Amino acid sequence: MERCPFENELILVSNRGPISYTRGEDGELKTVRGGGGLVTALLGVAASCEITWIASAMTPEDAEISIRVGGGSTKVTHDEHRLGLRFVVSDPEVYNKFYNIIANPLIWFIQHYLWDLSVVPDIRHNEFEAWENGYQVVNREFADVVCDELDARGNERPVVMLHDYHLYTCPSLVRERHPEAFLHQFVHIPWPQSDSWRVLPRHIRQAIVRGLLANDIVAFHTQRYVRNFLVSCEELIGAEVEVDFARSVVIVAGREVWVRAYPISIDCADFERLAESESVLEEERYIEALRREYLVLRVDRMDLSKNIVRGFKAFDMFLDDHPEFKQRITFLALLQPSRGDVKEYNTYRQQIMREVEVINTKHGTTNWMPIDVRMQDNFMRSVAAYKQFDVLMVNAIYDGMNLIAKEAGLINRHDGVLILSENTGAHEELGEYCLSVNPFDLESQSEAIYQALIMEKDEKSRRAGMIRDTVKHNDIQKWIETQFVDIKAKMTEKAEAT
Ligand code: F6P
Repeated sequence: MERCPFENELILVSNRGPISYTRGEDGELKTVRGGGGLVTALLGVAASCEITWIASAMTPEDAEISIRVGGGSTKVTHDEHRLGLRFVVSDPEVYNKFYNIIANPLIWFIQHYLWDLSVVPDIRHNEFEAWENGYQVVNREFADVVCDELDARGNERPVVMLHDYHLYTCPSLVRERHPEAFLHQFVHIPWPQSDSWRVLPRHIRQAIVRGLLANDIVAFHTQRYVRNFLVSCEELIGAEVEVDFARSVVIVAGREVWVRAYPISIDCADFERLAESESVLEEERYIEALRREYLVLRVDRMDLSKNIVRGFKAFDMFLDDHPEFKQRITFLALLQPSRGDVKEYNTYRQQIMREVEVINTKHGTTNWMPIDVRMQDNFMRSVAAYKQFDVLMVNAIYDGMNLIAKEAGLINRHDGVLILSENTGAHEELGEYCLSVNPFDLESQSEAIYQALIMEKDEKSRRAGMIRDTVKHNDIQKWIETQFVDIKAKMTEKAEAT
């Protein structure tokens, strides 16, 4: 990969960091890689630039390391790349309000249209309090650390790249103290239509939009989210801004904020290497042993936005309509446990298990279980399953991008067919080559499973080839480099304006 096109160091800022510390049974500190697509993508940035990464301390051991280095940064190595890692240590009570009451579920649910507004959410003292004494406090703590890093570098002017919905109000706090700073923020989840934000009381929704507009560039995965954001600026704080839709720019307090789309992707070369690694090959033997003639696969974090229950209902309908496939097919669902402290996620997990039990009892036999659910975090097994599927089900209600579709599409060895929700960011790129479904339409999902299974060999191979080519053409390097090009251009524009 090319080096950064500019001299400046990068400061990456995200809630979840590249690694976390834990203590093994022998009492020794060991590191665990941070989960999720965001971390994977940002490690690509770390490979090309000198970076300091600021992230929340997720474990007591992270906090311990932070104390050991006096709150400063510690050098860590990942995939031979050295990077500085600095933890933001929050009080656990404060962090709980930030993460488990405001970020997930409140903001996450708004951005994925998950609230059933006739009954939830109720915004009471608990939520107001969690906003003030949780979300805002953690954002302030992040801003303090960012400012500290900027102060330490004086005139070197590093680029600050913030990430995601956890840190919406952080940029305005940094801007107040460092008006000259270069701030860039990537929102990795959908930006919904502006009225969705009216679930939140005025001062909260306005603080979110104002916070984002303190950046120089605000980035999303798709043009649809960009449009939604521009409209939100006009609708939610219209008196304070001028929105130029043609240039995709918001003018606020005499500053121009660029709003851009960069569809995130994966490191293809790395992923192909991983697919051939011994640990994946070993897991592949495991998958081969459990599969029957056909394998339908889903791999997801156990999140309500992923639409797991409806995927199973569609499979139930498919088995009703096409009993000739019974005994010959398995729906393997590899679900990583997630956000276990949020009650909605626990209820959803129970709903999933209930649905699976009903379907397996209805269609299963003593030697055939139609749906095989594994609730575990076993990345190597997921990669092995990517290679083996005949049908991949990605029916998310809404999803910022969905990297599973890209990862699995790249390394699948069966010319497997992708069933893809029209409400995923990935659909903007892969929509032509998948079987496109509406996530609420069970008929279309059930029919898509059938169509995928009976599709002509040549057609399957053509579609799978196009998916591979599309992913390779727009891989993680391109995602990073196009952002660097824009950052450089925006820096020049700013320099000329002063
Ligand atoms: O962008 C969404 C994201 O932040 C990704 O990193 C990942 O898919 C997921 O959410 C991780 O969530 P959490 O950090 O809550 O486990």
